[in-house]
Amino acid sequence: MKKYVIHGGRPLYGRVEISGAKNAAVGIIPAALLVKGTCRIENIPEISDVNLFLNILRELGAQVRTVNQNTVDVDCASIINRQIPYENGRKIRASYYLLGALLGRFGKAEVPLPGGCDFGGRPIDQHIKGFTALGAKVDVRNGYVYAEAEGGRLKGAQIYLDIVSVGATMNLMMAAALAEGTTIIENAAKEPHIVDLANFLNSMGADITGSGTDIIKIHGVERLTGGEYSIIPDQIEAGTYMAAVAATGGEVRVCGIIPKHMECITAKLVEMGVEVEEEDDSLIVRRNGPLQRTNVKTMPYPGFPTDMQPQIAAVLCLAQGTSVITEGVWDNRYRYTEEFRRLGAKIQVDGKIAIIEGVNQLTGAPMEACDLRAGVAMVIAGLAAQGVSEVSNVGHIERGYENLIGKLSGIGSDIRAVEVPDPEKQPVSAAG
Ligand code: EPU
Repeated sequence: MKKYVIHGGRPLYGRVEISGAKNAAVGIIPAALLVKGTCRIENIPEISDVNLFLNILRELGAQVRTVNQNTVDVDCASIINRQIPYENGRKIRASYYLLGALLGRFGKAEVPLPGGCDFGGRPIDQHIKGFTALGAKVDVRNGYVYAEAEGGRLKGAQIYLDIVSVGATMNLMMAAALAEGTTIIENAAKEPHIVDLANFLNSMGADITGSGTDIIKIHGVERLTGGEYSIIPDQIEAGTYMAAVAATGGEVRVCGIIPKHMECITAKLVEMGVEVEEEDDSLIVRRNGPLQRTNVKTMPYPGFPTDMQPQIAAVLCLAQGTSVITEGVWDNRYRYTEEFRRLGAKIQVDGKIAIIEGVNQLTGAPMEACDLRAGVAMVIAGLAAQGVSEVSNVGHIERGYENLIGKLSGIGSDIRAVEVPDPEKQPVSAAG
């Protein structure tokens, strides 16, 4: 177990290189199950969620070869096992992608039902509705989702999603890639990682058009063969460093990004008085003056991303005036606000709304990460606060940020990871 210790109150300067997108990687790696041949996947972030997925593929019988820190060769030609072990499958919420991939390739899948999470229930009714429309019988029992295509192969269908769901859109694209006939997904999600998954599948021989719009057409093909693919840069990781500079002040070049993907985040930071200059594949983020209040509403892409909501809240804690955040995607994504209050932040939460009254200064305190983005937002708040902060339970953060400590140290933060004893492994005292 580890915690981060932060000596805050230092502005950030320098350049930071952005890694491959977590939420693209956790879709593309299971999608390799659809391919009979070797997929070379480049720009994979080195994070624990990716390692878990690669281990699941190994357990299924895939050959996974590490080429370098961010490149793997995955060959799923000879999968021997199609049941995902319960413990591994439950550890990672995106394990639902294994359903679409296994169902598409073999006409059958058995995957543990993904658990809920700290910001609300995690229903998969839209995924199931789509698989059913494609001709699968889907059953949930004993903690597993069982899905089986009638006649052994899925059949193309028209699917209208009731909710704009990233996971359902990606899962149905995977399932339909090898189905017989054409599938049309309406009211599809449009996030950059949806387009990335479609591009990956197309580069392996799929026929998918319309990704990035709300109608995606998938003409099923007989087989997918191997190829090479490089994952897009992580929009949320880049936004997180932009928010860190906004909170602490300073000037940082955020490199290796797609500026178009950043517009929804850049626009809010500019409203708050942060300067953002675009140069090819980088953004220079500068904040010298005071931060101004603003309102933020999270929405599916191209709206402001829910996965940046806690980080922008950390910045708004230091803005002049009162800001209002409306969470438009998840039911309960404000658990971190209790921890922010320890630093002297003034935040009130009422259902999906948080009202933040900016203060002049935050002061360091211990905080406990409750999920990935909440945890990294606590790091940002700690970097901006005067004095020493600690963030514990950082396993949440390491699920999704490659080399966070190294990258933040590289732009002038005083942050280090410290091992802490696991209370469950401590000898029990005989006294008392
Ligand atoms: N929903 C349903 N039924 C479904 C699917 C979703 O009601 O069948 C609801 C959810 O409860 C939620 C909303 O629809 O209220 C949107 O959920 P979505 O399916 O889009 O989320 P997801 O695919 O489970 C991905 C990201 C999340 C990100 C959301 C929204 C991955 C692995 N996860 O989740 O990322 O918050 O999209 O953009 O891609 C993170 O990276 O920290 C993270 C939580």
